[in-house]
Amino acid sequence: MSGKVALITGGASGMGLEVARSLSSKGWKVSILDMNQTAGEKVATEINGKFYKTNVTNYDELAHAFDSTFKAHGHLDFVFANAGIAGEEKFYDEAPLDEKGIPKKPSLLVTAINIDAVITTCYLAQHYLRKNPTPGGAIVITASSGGIYPCPASPIYGTSKHAMVGLARSIGPRMKRDGIRVNAICPGTVRTGLLAKEAWDTFPDEAFTPVEKVVEVVELFINDEGLYGQTAEISRGNHYFRSIPEFSDEFMERTMRACD
Ligand SMILES: NC(=O)c1ccc[n+]([C@@H]2O[C@H](COP(=O)([O-])OP(=O)(O)OC[C@H]3O[C@@H](n4cnc5c(N)ncnc54)[C@H](O)[C@@H]3O)[C@@H](O)[C@H]2O)c1
Repeated sequence: MSGKVALITGGASGMGLEVARSLSSKGWKVSILDMNQTAGEKVATEINGKFYKTNVTNYDELAHAFDSTFKAHGHLDFVFANAGIAGEEKFYDEAPLDEKGIPKKPSLLVTAINIDAVITTCYLAQHYLRKNPTPGGAIVITASSGGIYPCPASPIYGTSKHAMVGLARSIGPRMKRDGIRVNAICPGTVRTGLLAKEAWDTFPDEAFTPVEKVVEVVELFINDEGLYGQTAEISRGNHYFRSIPEFSDEFMERTMRACD
């Protein structure tokens, strides 16, 4: 048994659930953080883990779950920053107007969950992984193929996932200094609770990625000590490490290296 400890946001369903099940079968203790209390409690019972009812956009709830997990075990080894939503994309719809005829503010719930809350999850992960008896650990961020390729039909979702690729690439090298390895996964379509059946049916059936392949890549990132700041695209049974764009010229290289 590994005796290791994982914290998974969005662990009550889909990819988070399957990663939780797989780690638990290998002896990990897993904290499930999710808004869905019924599903979360069921999962925690199944895997003998702990459920924290958490809205990841609520910093106090998120921080409490991190702190309780760390205090319960005295260490934390892996954080899966995975909670996310597709949201209802109404960006191109005719704008609803207020009483003055000015467009009302559109919902930015997708960016609050898929960007802001992942940033706070990584921030808290950094704090607790640094506090480990041997500082360090692993973080995997769930981005998407929509974080690599343009997503015209879902521009807010696509933008949120591009941000996750940027986050992993930006914090990856710095957090490695503390022994923390951050990587991102970019799966194609995986049949989960993210969308309704009718929505999944609009995608090519033969192009779906099995959730087991996602679990395999997440565990690769947990176990391979050489991987950090990487982005793995996952398509069906394959994964591909996506390289960072080359510098256009020496001046850009010097400019960007000054940000290291
Ligand atoms: N399914 C796909 O095809 C696909 C592809 C690429 C990326 N993703 C990403 O994978 C991640 C996991 O999604 P999934 O496909 O497993 O879907 P899912 O809906 O089955 O799982 C997402 C989980 O996150 C939880 N969640 C949502 N908002 C939350 C919040 N504010 N606070 C706490 N928990 C919250 C949900 O309750 C659910 O349990 C998401 O970030 C999603 O964008 C999914």
